[in-house]
Amino acid sequence: MLMAKTQEHRSDYLTARRLAKILALDDFEGVARRHLPRPLFGYIAGASETNASLRDNRNAFAEFGFRPHTLRDVSLRSTATTILGTRYAAPFGIAPMGISALMAYRGDIVLARAAAEADIPMIMSGSSLIPLEEVAKAAPHSWFQAYLPGEPDRIDALLDRVAAAGFGTLLLTVDVAILPNRENNVRAGFSTPLRPSLRLAWQGLTHPSWTVGTFARTLLNHGMPHFENSYATRGAPIIARSVSRDFGKRDHLNWEHLEQIRRRWKGRLVVKGIMRADDALRAAEYGVDGIIVSNHGGRQLDGTLAPLRVLPRIAEAAGDKTTVMLDGGVRRGTDVLKALALGAKFVFVGRPFLYAAAVGGHAGVMKAANILSEEIWRDMALLGINSIEELTTDYIERLRGD
Ligand SMILES: Cc1cc2nc3c(=O)[nH]c(=O)nc-3n(C[C@H](O)[C@H](O)[C@H](O)COP(=O)(O)O)c2cc1C
Repeated sequence: MLMAKTQEHRSDYLTARRLAKILALDDFEGVARRHLPRPLFGYIAGASETNASLRDNRNAFAEFGFRPHTLRDVSLRSTATTILGTRYAAPFGIAPMGISALMAYRGDIVLARAAAEADIPMIMSGSSLIPLEEVAKAAPHSWFQAYLPGEPDRIDALLDRVAAAGFGTLLLTVDVAILPNRENNVRAGFSTPLRPSLRLAWQGLTHPSWTVGTFARTLLNHGMPHFENSYATRGAPIIARSVSRDFGKRDHLNWEHLEQIRRRWKGRLVVKGIMRADDALRAAEYGVDGIIVSNHGGRQLDGTLAPLRVLPRIAEAAGDKTTVMLDGGVRRGTDVLKALALGAKFVFVGRPFLYAAAVGGHAGVMKAANILSEEIWRDMALLGINSIEELTTDYIERLRGD
């Protein structure tokens, strides 16, 4: 008992020390690089092939500048905003990220609970290692993201399970027809399932705070993690010598399945991974409540344009027909405000939140959410606005040619 308490205090102390030096979302990356075994860090940080889209996601933000208003009373400003009928404290949420519970102890629950406390939405990934019912219980307002195959029976079975767990918002990711080419994962020794090897064991030995605080603790308290939510039934374990994951007929998924999903799913439906105005309009015709303009953080088709570049066209075409959101490369309050000025109603942030959960658990995710909220709040004053709804293209200008 005493040993457990001492251990807990030591880990609280280490967490506080790690977090004390973090001033911006990007600061989490360096701390996570040291804390996580190389294959796991590489899985989060990397993208596909040459990482061209990953880089462009960031570069695109630098191509826009602000035109602030001055001499306006901004003392009553608020970062609160409403998305899909719910009012949140800030115009950003946590993007869905697979195998979070391997990066942070009970990762999905940590992210979901901290998001609920910060009053922002969190999207639970379908490629996750904790049964979705447990996350819904811990944080009932989380959203659920599904990777669905083009197989009607499996679609219905998963949707019924998600609905029975009480999720109100379903997100369908549509940019994953097949597995991408992530050479960096192969080089870093990452695969799902992870294959036991001397190299992997060495990574465990040389990253003891992850091995003890996340991995061993998970094994001890919950057993070997499995993919729990890809389908209605349990999937492969996260470490296995010869088991393969079942990805189903993802490459069969098409608009007819979206129609089927819309008929069966009674809650709010969001499609993630739309990059074209015509697809956005078609999704709206099929009755989706919102879309996320996204290239999956550069992790699917390398060379896909940055979401910020296609956002204005999509937002203009979509008008009021569906709610347009964006993710990819959002790291600063100024990035959030740029995306909103260019037509997004809300944005999502991926990697920094997973790093934050890995290195700081609940406190880490709260710190990340606070940093971004405070940046937005400060930037709003300097831009001359009191509410998120005031943002329009009037506040922003492209620096270089179109
Ligand atoms: C480690 C990791 C795992 C991810 N897993 C999923 C997933 O399971 N489902 C999904 O729709 N998107 C997934 N994504 C993509 C994110 O939801 C999001 O689109 C992307 O990370 C946004 O870019 P950012 O990391 O630059 O903020 C993942 C991204 C990362 C970094």
